[in-house]
Formats: sequence, C-alpha cells, structure tokens
Amino acid sequence: MADRTGRLTTRELSMRTVADFEQFFWQVNGCGCALYLFGRHLSPAASAAITGRRPPAAGVRPAGRDWRTGELAAVKDLVRQGLAHGILVYADAEPVGWCHFGRADEVPVPRDDSIPRKRFARYPSTQWRITCLLTRIDHRRRGVAGTALAAAVAAIKKRGGGWIEATPISFPHRDTTLRKVRREHGWNSTAVDEYLKDNWPSREIPGLGRVGACPVTAQTMTNVGTLSMYEKLGFKPTKIDELSGDPRLPFDRVVVRLKA
Ligand SMILES: CC(C)(COP(=O)(O)OP(=O)(O)OC[C@H]1O[C@@H](n2cnc3c(N)ncnc32)[C@H](O)[C@@H]1OP(=O)(O)O)[C@@H](O)C(=O)NCCC(=O)NCCS
Repeated sequence: MADRTGRLTTRELSMRTVADFEQFFWQVNGCGCALYLFGRHLSPAASAAITGRRPPAAGVRPAGRDWRTGELAAVKDLVRQGLAHGILVYADAEPVGWCHFGRADEVPVPRDDSIPRKRFARYPSTQWRITCLLTRIDHRRRGVAGTALAAAVAAIKKRGGGWIEATPISFPHRDTTLRKVRREHGWNSTAVDEYLKDNWPSREIPGLGRVGACPVTAQTMTNVGTLSMYEKLGFKPTKIDELSGDPRLPFDRVVVRLKA
C-alpha cells in the first residue's frame, strides 16, 4: 500500500518490490542491513557458495561485486521465506531510500554463539527492531529517512505491534577540524584524544546521563538515524547503549523503545 508524503511514496519489501530493492542495493553499493540480518556481512566462503564462485584464497578479500552479489542473493532468499522486512521509499518511481526492520527473533536470522552480542536486541521483551536506514546520496536531507522510519512503525503496527527497539546516535555534530586533526596525526593519536576531550559536545539526557555527539558530514550520517527522529514518533530513550560504544569514537548510541 503506498503512503504519500509529498513526492515520496513508500512500499514494503516483498517479492513484488524485491527488484526495486535490488536496483537500490546496487546504486548504494550494498547496505548495512545485511549486518543485522546475518549478524555480520557474509563470509567470503558463504558468499562464494551463493554466487557459485570459488572462495578466495586465505587472506584475500572477495571482489566487492562478488561479495555483494552473494549478500543480495541471500537477502532475496530471506524475502522469499518472509524473513526479511523493510520499507522502500520512492521519489516518483525511483527507489531512493530504505529502512530495515524485523522481528527481534529474526534479526539476526542465524542465532549461534559466534554472532556478536551487539547484533541482538538489548531487551528480552523487544518484539521488533528497526536497525538500518539508508538514503541515496542525491536524495539526502529531504526527509527520506524520516518517511521510511514512520512507514516502518506503521508496518509493524499493521502486523500486530508490540515493543519496538532501535539504537540511534545521540545527536549529530559536524566538525571539520576533527577530520584535519585525524588526517594530520592519525586516528588513534594523542592529538585526536586531546582535541576530543577539549572540544567535543555532549548533552544530558534526563535520567540517563551525558551522551557524546556523533560526527557527521554535510551529506551523510551513520545508518542508524538520530534520537530526535525516533522521539518524533513517540520512542523514549531507555539507556545509553554500552554495546555499540567504540573507544576510538567519541559518540554514544541510545537504546530507544516504543510500544506500538
Ligand atoms: C542517515 C541517513 C539515512 C539519513 O537520511 P536522510 O534521508 O538524509 O535523512 P532525513 O532527511 O530524513 O533527516 C532525518 C534527520 O536527520 C538529520 N540529518 C540527516 N542528515 C544529516 C547530516 N548529514 N547532518 C546532520 N543532520 C542530519 C535531519 O536534520 C533530520 O533531523 P530531525 O529529525 O531532527 O529534523 C543518510 O545520511 C544515509 O544514508 N547515510 C549513509 C548511511 C550509511 O553509511 N550506510 C552504510 C550502509 S548501511
């Protein structure tokens, strides 16, 4: 069912729209939702098994195209089985945006011990997860991701609703000096640590504590969206996410939830 927001329309991922997902997937050079669906990107051997090509020798990365072909085939297989869900956003007839969501027990689909804990839902009572947003670069900053997110929540409600969980960044911050310091001194340098300590913005989230900003550029942010995007839809921040922190990066993610 198409849902109109200005020029933008949305459709759910299904066997009817999987060709649009495929078109989008190639235009954006793959998507991080594979990380959530499989717990990680496919291994070279798994990708080779799907593409029918020989796995590369140990230590050799598969060519990007082979790797993505493998991931795309695996995602399509999950769509066929009804195990991969998402929203495509169209500008006119062109797919330009994507939001991945899924049942908590299907994200990731393999449930073995080798999958990192950070790929699973944080709360046992979570029934749905929204994990990944991606907008084609020439359509960014026009509300595509916001439209995709609202449509994902509506799609979850349509399926009976329940607790939805996501882990967006706290808030975005654009800082051109940080890039220069990193370039000049290296990512893990003392100069970067000192620059961050003295200059990096943080904010208090009532009841949760202080969260650091996430570096963004004019054109891009990370694939998880911002806390504010979720708050607009009624999600509440519940805790600072201890699993998604990376000591080399200055930002925090926040676990947000909504009972839909
Ligand atoms: C994150 C991303 C999906 C946002 O898409 P978008 O369609 O441009 O987002 P929207 O226009 O709907 O904006 C949503 C919110 O984010 C903010 N925003 C978006 N891009 C921003 C940027 N570069 N800097 C600061 N804020 C930004 C908007 O101001 C808006 O905030 P608000 O809700 O508080 O008003 C997009 O930047 C993207 O695809 N990035 C690449 C993700 C990636 O690398 N994926 C890897 C493979 S998964």
